Amino acid sequence: MPTKIEKDSHTGTETTGHVWDGIRELNTPLPKWWLYVFLATVVWSAGYFLLYPSIPLGGHYWKGLWGYSSRGDAMAGVAAIHEQHAAAMEQIAKTPIADVEKDPKLMQTALVAGRITFANNCQPCHGQNGSGRVGYPALGDDVWLWGGKLADLETTLTHGIRSGDPDARVSQMPAFGTDGTLKPEQIQQVADYVGIWWGLTGKDVDTKAGAAIYAENCVACHGEKGEGNRDAGAPPLNSKVHLLDGTRASIVAQVTHPQMGVMPNWNTRLDPATLKSVALYVHSLGGGE
Ligand code: HEC
Ligand code: HEC
Repeated sequence: MPTKIEKDSHTGTETTGHVWDGIRELNTPLPKWWLYVFLATVVWSAGYFLLYPSIPLGGHYWKGLWGYSSRGDAMAGVAAIHEQHAAAMEQIAKTPIADVEKDPKLMQTALVAGRITFANNCQPCHGQNGSGRVGYPALGDDVWLWGGKLADLETTLTHGIRSGDPDARVSQMPAFGTDGTLKPEQIQQVADYVGIWWGLTGKDVDTKAGAAIYAENCVACHGEKGEGNRDAGAPPLNSKVHLLDGTRASIVAQVTHPQMGVMPNWNTRLDPATLKSVALYVHSLGGGE
């Protein structure tokens, strides 16, 4: 029941004119600070509404005057990383491999690129992390056919082994059995001799004949003490790390008719920076020299 609007005598504030049981309602104004903050939020929300994506419009939405989207933001981040990566790879392509190794920033990129390249291209033959398989050498140990220096690895990867590339690493162990150089009995004897290094031959076995056959036919490639010869890609035979399966049968088979491994040349499949990266990765596996 509206009555006359008047001022409250205690507070000096206007009344609303409402009176219940003699109690009058005061029309206390909102505090100024509250009002201004409220108005500011209204202005802020209007601005935000205009500048940023805010409201669905049929099948679309208001994209905002600034055209911002969190997806766009993420994609820009990804593009920046790609650009950085591309720049680093370009730098790696131009830098000699030994200098890449000295540059921690380039190395970081190279090792990531190398690890991915290895998993995609090398793992099927060389096993996870280069752990090796029968006929496919382990790449993380100290035993090398052709050498474990960065330059050796770069050459091996670039041109391959018996790959048909004109600069491939090539060597051929003679087929002593099938070409008749050694009789089956002599092959058993030389297997006895090599078997000493591999822990296959008992102390009671007479290996004199085998030693003589070895000296005459094998030293040129595998060395007097079985130390191997990297110029011929001939593995050490005095080691417990084997290219084949480490059995006596594998010695006999290899001497009779050798299985010469083929490693693809990668110069036609990988760009120079990626090639260097994978060489650096292999070098970092533990056997790098
Ligand atoms: C199709 C199978 C195959 C693939 C794929 C392959 N390799 Fe090989 N790789 C071999 C074989 C077999 C040998 C041993 C050749 C021999 O018996 O002389 C070898 C040898 C090597 C050697 C020489 C090791 C030493 O002791 O000197 C290196 C280094 C090597 N591979 C690295 C790689 C890398 C890195 C990749 C990937 C870019 C790769 N390989 C892909 C089969 C393969
Ligand atoms: C012209 C060089 C050459 C001569 C000579 C040679 N080898 Fe080899 N041998 C090699 C090469 C190279 C390999 C590695 C095979 C490959 O790359 O796949 C090898 C591999 C082997 C292996 C396998 C090693 C392993 O770790 O599994 C045995 C065993 C072996 N040779 C024994 C002999 C014996 C015994 C003789 C002498 C009767 C001999 N070789 C003569 C070059 C030679």
